[in-house]
Amino acid sequence: MLQYNELSADPNAQTLKSIYVYEAPVRLWHWVQAVAMVVLVATGFLISYPPPSVGGEASDSFLFGYIRFAHFTAGYVLAIVTVLRIYWAFVGNDYAKQLFVVPLWSRQYWREMWHEIRWYSFAADKPLKYGGHNPLAQFFMCFVLMVTTFFMIATGFALYGEGTGEGSWANVAFGWVIPLLGDSQAVHTWHHLGTWVVITFTMIHLYAAIREDITSRQSIMSTMVSGYRTFKD
Ligand code: HEM
Ligand code: HEM
Repeated sequence: MLQYNELSADPNAQTLKSIYVYEAPVRLWHWVQAVAMVVLVATGFLISYPPPSVGGEASDSFLFGYIRFAHFTAGYVLAIVTVLRIYWAFVGNDYAKQLFVVPLWSRQYWREMWHEIRWYSFAADKPLKYGGHNPLAQFFMCFVLMVTTFFMIATGFALYGEGTGEGSWANVAFGWVIPLLGDSQAVHTWHHLGTWVVITFTMIHLYAAIREDITSRQSIMSTMVSGYRTFKD
């Protein structure tokens, strides 16, 4: 769907072209999972490096319980919205599929990937324009972030299943992850390591989103709010 906006009041104004890229469920999913990730990283580190024990009667204080409760709630939210996002890849527009299907078989994909690597290294002088993601972003979003998200959900619910006990759904669905990775401590360590992948991705993601918004002659930040990508000349 193409939509042309005429900025007619000023004779110097250019004609901007916008296309509808991210549908409402994708945008909603993006912001909900982003908030869930922030809560998971913050409470996860509080679980790793707990605050000092508080004095007094044990039953008077539930601080660590609240920290774990927030972690598990955000964990459930992340898992549910991830499942909904997979569903939307089937029923949504072509851009909604990009997160899960990377055209590794296409020569053009790799040519444009090389251009993006040069563009991000300040070695290319012109940005290429995309409706959805550029090939480099798509690669990292699928193979780094989504794979890590699935891994964090599997290891998180495996640990959660230890608490809810044998026969609970989490234990039945994900209990096998514990012997697969060794033991409970190993799962904690892998889950902890995955946290650093999420943090590193988010830092690069924010840098790239802000940088491309400024330099690439197409809207980036506002696209994840309105859904429209606007191309400048
Ligand atoms: C990207 C998402 C997630 C991040 C960044 C994250 C982060 C963390 C971190 C850093 C820890 C402490 C690990 C350690 O050092 O022992 C932890 C523990 C844990 N996480 Fe997650 N987590 C995520 C997703 C989940 C999910 C989806 C669940 C499922 C409910 C979950 C359940 C747990 C459990 C049960 C523990 C152990 C709690 C304890 O030992 O008291 N996590 N998480
Ligand atoms: C305040 C923080 C964040 C901002 C400002 C932000 C911004 C954006 C923007 C502008 C896009 C669209 C890029 C494009 O136009 O192609 C995007 C996409 C995306 N972001 Fe973020 N983001 C944030 C946090 C996060 C976090 C924490 C994660 C996960 C760890 C994340 C994961 C993703 C993914 C997977 C996509 C691709 C969406 C899809 O294709 O369905 N973002 N983000």
